[in-house]
Amino acid sequence: MFVNDCLNVNGDGHLTIGGCDTVELAKEYGTPLYVLDENVIRETCRSYVNSFKKFYDGNGMPLYASKALSCKELCRIANEENIGLDVVSGGEIYTALQAGFPMEKVHFHGNNKTADEIKFALESKVGKFVVDNLYELELLNNIAGEMGVTANISFRIKPGVDAHTHNFIRTGQIDSKFGFALETGEAFNAVKEAIKLENVCLKELHCHIGSQIFDIEPFVTAAEIMIDFMGKIKNELGVVISELNLGGGFGIMYTEKDEPVPYENYMEKVSVAVKAKSAEYGIPVPFIYIEPGRSIVGEAGITLYTVGGKKEIPNIRTYVSVDGGMTDNIRYALYQSDYTVVNASKADKTPDEVITVAGKCCESGDLVQEHTKVAEVEVGDTLAVLSTGAYNYSMASNYNRIPRPAMIMVNNGTSRVIIKRESYEDIVKNDI
Ligand code: LLP
Repeated sequence: MFVNDCLNVNGDGHLTIGGCDTVELAKEYGTPLYVLDENVIRETCRSYVNSFKKFYDGNGMPLYASKALSCKELCRIANEENIGLDVVSGGEIYTALQAGFPMEKVHFHGNNKTADEIKFALESKVGKFVVDNLYELELLNNIAGEMGVTANISFRIKPGVDAHTHNFIRTGQIDSKFGFALETGEAFNAVKEAIKLENVCLKELHCHIGSQIFDIEPFVTAAEIMIDFMGKIKNELGVVISELNLGGGFGIMYTEKDEPVPYENYMEKVSVAVKAKSAEYGIPVPFIYIEPGRSIVGEAGITLYTVGGKKEIPNIRTYVSVDGGMTDNIRYALYQSDYTVVNASKADKTPDEVITVAGKCCESGDLVQEHTKVAEVEVGDTLAVLSTGAYNYSMASNYNRIPRPAMIMVNNGTSRVIIKRESYEDIVKNDI
């Protein structure tokens, strides 16, 4: 019935998550409220770790792409589950540090790392810099030299694989702001530059073809292209690169139309291709990193809202206004993303009312979902939007000076706050 295994319906007809009644959670913690199920997150982390054990002799490690949801508790969980972190900013590095995360397991991404961020990352002993461009390579080499340290680096490569997903989240093709192109020789020149430099050590190559991808084939193709490149580097430059980072992007279920494949199928297929290609070039089978973000937290999360006004416009549509919207979930406004909406107060009733869920911002485009079916909605009902664990809180804003919601973690019938609700004082705290 639901897109997500941790959801159920109890005897009161209320939606439950991780054994907690969502209507009670809404009362206890207030709305809007982000709710995450800890077991789903941990099980997904384990399935990725196990896929390396099962199909790749344990010769790899998942890194949690913390842009999907960066907070101290997620860093702690990633550490407990023996996975590393992908970070993209000083703020995400700081979050990892504050959570006591082992910094050698952190990969620092981004297409425009500032000098201050690079210094901060070196001081924090971040494990690897995924270098995006030649300017950054030089900057990093200079700063590392001034600090008397060597930076371990990877190169972000555009493998030229065009994954079928939303335009804004496709990144593997040549027209992308991220990384070095293979076709033009740009990537090969970057490798030649890096091996001349004294304060960087090229350990890894990286690619990421996009996000919310369901086919395994483009991942396999990208892996093969990357090994071809490693083979060329060995043959022409005599340099063996021993680590390969294949990025993230594994699709999740937002609605019943989505059909994700079990995540372990990925390593099953990719490992065969990587081993065969490595043998072809006579290079050691590389240590592999993958960077799942959305698939670790996405389906584990839901957002709860309280229904305010209902506006029926005859022959057009019925707007149901909720107490959040684009400030806590920008994804419909930005990408017209599909979501499943459930009337959590009447989860046992047939979803036969077609509504448009509107947010509370002064913005006509502030919609969470249009023309979606839910059980008949009344003012005061709790509405749940499913699969909001990824790229919701992390993309939230204070537009209209709306405080960001709290986030709670549920686990087998218990709940705890992991991110406090912002207050009005928080809203003005940097105003002078
Ligand atoms: N690695 C790199 C280098 C990435 O750029 C990304 C996502 C990931 C890993 C994680 O991808 P995931 O497994 O989460 O799909 N805001 C958009 C998604 C942007 C993704 C950016 N990069 C959304 O809400 O759909």
